[in-house]
Amino acid sequence: VQVDKGNYRHFMQKEIYEQPEVIGHTLSRYLNLNKLCTTLPKGTSVDFAALDRLVISACGTAFYAGLIGKYWFEKYARIPVDIDIASEFRYREMPVKAGDLALFISQSGETADTLASLRYCKQQGMRIGAVVNVPESTIAREADVVFPTVAGAEIGVASTKAFTCQLSVLASLAIHAGRARGVLSAEREAELVRMLGEVPAYAVKALKVEKDLEKLSQPLSKSNHALYLGRGTNFPLAMEGALKLKEISYIHAEGYAAGELKHGPIALIDESMPVIVVAPHDEIFEKTVSNVQEVAARGGRVILITDARGAAEAGINAWKTIVMPDVPEIAAPIIHAIPVQLLAYHTAVFMGTDVDQPRNLAKSVTVE
Ligand code: G6P
Repeated sequence: VQVDKGNYRHFMQKEIYEQPEVIGHTLSRYLNLNKLCTTLPKGTSVDFAALDRLVISACGTAFYAGLIGKYWFEKYARIPVDIDIASEFRYREMPVKAGDLALFISQSGETADTLASLRYCKQQGMRIGAVVNVPESTIAREADVVFPTVAGAEIGVASTKAFTCQLSVLASLAIHAGRARGVLSAEREAELVRMLGEVPAYAVKALKVEKDLEKLSQPLSKSNHALYLGRGTNFPLAMEGALKLKEISYIHAEGYAAGELKHGPIALIDESMPVIVVAPHDEIFEKTVSNVQEVAARGGRVILITDARGAAEAGINAWKTIVMPDVPEIAAPIIHAIPVQLLAYHTAVFMGTDVDQPRNLAKSVTVE
């Protein structure tokens, strides 16, 4: 299929803007918004109640989606999750239980390491699930159950809309599993489904912060390094934000669990170190605020990505605060992916790099 950029400057920007729509398409396969319950796509069935453990593996951005999925499956469905990057997983000789589910996440469905990990699990007698964007891909064909993302063709090498669609699928599956395992009541399932169903509308609002982030691109482009911090599901988002920035702007960036700040990265903090903190107001927000203070006290410049409540409580310690719409906890990782994408995008545009085709990177890594 021929895809063009329309009125956008880059495919990446177009794909960031497509998110409300494609998340909506994806969620419509997993949520019944009339009956307020989860539904699996036609022809797929998984006995989540029988699982002792869930194994997840993927590469790059898809791996970070899986990491957020781990928090969800453990919290909402009480399933222990073992997750690893596929290039490690395939050689680990991890003991697995035949019959348990292994989930592989891939936009292209062709990533060599992810495919090798899938084949390892298959050989061990595991049931194979695949969250894939390309239905005719090798990973989709070799899986027992396919959970499609409906992101449409993604052209930009740095993944954006595929990521938020992967998150939408994983959140839906976690709720589904939680209900199947008796962890969530029908009422709680209905409440979570309703909240998740609002994500496309929240995403429209989230895109409105673009101008604020664009203003940060110039100061950020002057830095050689950047640190991203987050806790809980914001930790994988911090790593995803750092990955996006380094991939397309070539600024060295690292994502860290905020609680690990004291165990190393704090040594790097000075006036020249921008620290991007992803922290909507949640149960552990206070803990992250103390990290913001630690950075500010050492002259570090904090870019705080939060919501109105978070801004009111912690904005004073930040150099710049980006105020995101208020969203329920289950929606937050999907919505907060948008500002980290936009920040990397505008920084790269400001620096004049080849945003859609960054040097040395490939859209799909089909060799080891
Ligand atoms: C490459 C791409 C990334 C992507 C990763 C995994 O590194 O540049 O954007 O996240 O591969 O690709 P997959 O197709 O398996 O999701």
